[in-house]
Amino acid sequence: MAASRSTSACKVRRTCRVCGSLRREPVVNLGRSPPANAFLKPADLARPEPRYPLEVVRCLECGLVQLRHVVDRSLLFRHYVYFSSASGPMADHFAQLARSAADEYGGSRPGLAVEIGSNDGTLLRALRGSNLDVLGIEPARNIARYANDQGIRTWNTFFGREVARRIRSRMGPARIVFSNNVLAHIDDLHEAAGAVADLLEPEGVWIIEVPHLAQMIERVEFDTIYHEHLSYFSLPPIERLLKAHGMSVEQVEEIPVHGGSLRIFVRSAALSSRQAPNVAKVRSEERRIGLHRASTFRRFRVAMEGVRSSLPRLLDRLRSKGKKIVGYGAPAKGNTLLNYCGIDRRRLDFLLDTTPAKQGLFAPGSRLEVRPPAAFRSARPDYALLLAWNFETEILERERDYVAQGGRFIRPIPFPEVIEPGPAARFEVVEASSRGRAR
Ligand code: TMP
Ligand code: ZN
Repeated sequence: MAASRSTSACKVRRTCRVCGSLRREPVVNLGRSPPANAFLKPADLARPEPRYPLEVVRCLECGLVQLRHVVDRSLLFRHYVYFSSASGPMADHFAQLARSAADEYGGSRPGLAVEIGSNDGTLLRALRGSNLDVLGIEPARNIARYANDQGIRTWNTFFGREVARRIRSRMGPARIVFSNNVLAHIDDLHEAAGAVADLLEPEGVWIIEVPHLAQMIERVEFDTIYHEHLSYFSLPPIERLLKAHGMSVEQVEEIPVHGGSLRIFVRSAALSSRQAPNVAKVRSEERRIGLHRASTFRRFRVAMEGVRSSLPRLLDRLRSKGKKIVGYGAPAKGNTLLNYCGIDRRRLDFLLDTTPAKQGLFAPGSRLEVRPPAAFRSARPDYALLLAWNFETEILERERDYVAQGGRFIRPIPFPEVIEPGPAARFEVVEASSRGRAR
């Protein structure tokens, strides 16, 4: 299959999904890669894996950074191994968001909260006992079933206008719509935004959480690039999308989730003449970083190439000294990192992850086995590559004994370094990558 040709599993998108422009320029090309959540069963190991192009482009008209190819959403999302509840800090984060949103926007009358991409119901569960009835929309069959079994009403479908109509007619309009880490997954953003506009009460609020392009660029978080993440958002393309559907940004907060995200509060444009000052602040921060300039993205590419050359060298040096190295966490982004850097079973022993649905499976591409966290204690590795770097604080806290006994974590980005107890010390082989730092 030529990279530029569409197939039923993978289509080339020629226009920007926000503004429709054809004027887009290449940012980076990560080559043909297996989907990042396509963990393999032992029986799959004998077969070659499907791989699809992973190329990032930037729209010169509206600034949206996006993938050039769209893998069929049924292939990516009908069966899913990511459970929100498996990461303790994320579960706490969503529960807090749900409760504060209910306090702020829940009102006193009974109402409805809908979550798009509700996963296992971790967020909606926290609304129990509030005046809000809840409904989750979740395309993954296995996860929707799990949520329903837990008593969180969940419809197993992709969200769109037809679903919004059905919700309205059966349950009424929504006072709050949540979409956390899902906007980037949606190819037809206008269908989704239009559907939310149709679904909301006139004074309702749409709360979006989405990884922020600014942080991805600043911290060289290139591993968050994978087929599920079709868009890498900054504020202007989001504002443009909302405007087309009679909505606007009322408030935005920068939050540390997933390496730096935006939490955006959206209302009907008719209501929000009052835009919080923080919106202008985030916009000017994005300009300061240079998200409107091609040179910013060239630096980003050089920085990620730096990681690709220095991380394998670091691992090889440690391996040549007989060190045992594992991957800590098996997040989707870990698979981008491993595959882009050419790290497989020769360079790591195995991965460990708290998600039961991933344990016993093998990571796509690298084919590293995923083991439960207990394997960390029994294997006593010398080094642990921190693939779930977004949870560094929590993980280092939990693994204090490991570090006290001489175990070390390796932080892969923005440049590979061994995390020493106390102030972090840079590893010697970082010259190549530090030269390539984005800033
Ligand atoms: P995420 O970064 O995409 O949220 O995925 C994080 C993955 O890391 C998820 O599979 C759960 C796993 N994990 C661990 O293995 N140990 C941990 O301490 C935490 C917080 C997450
Ligand atoms: Zn555009």
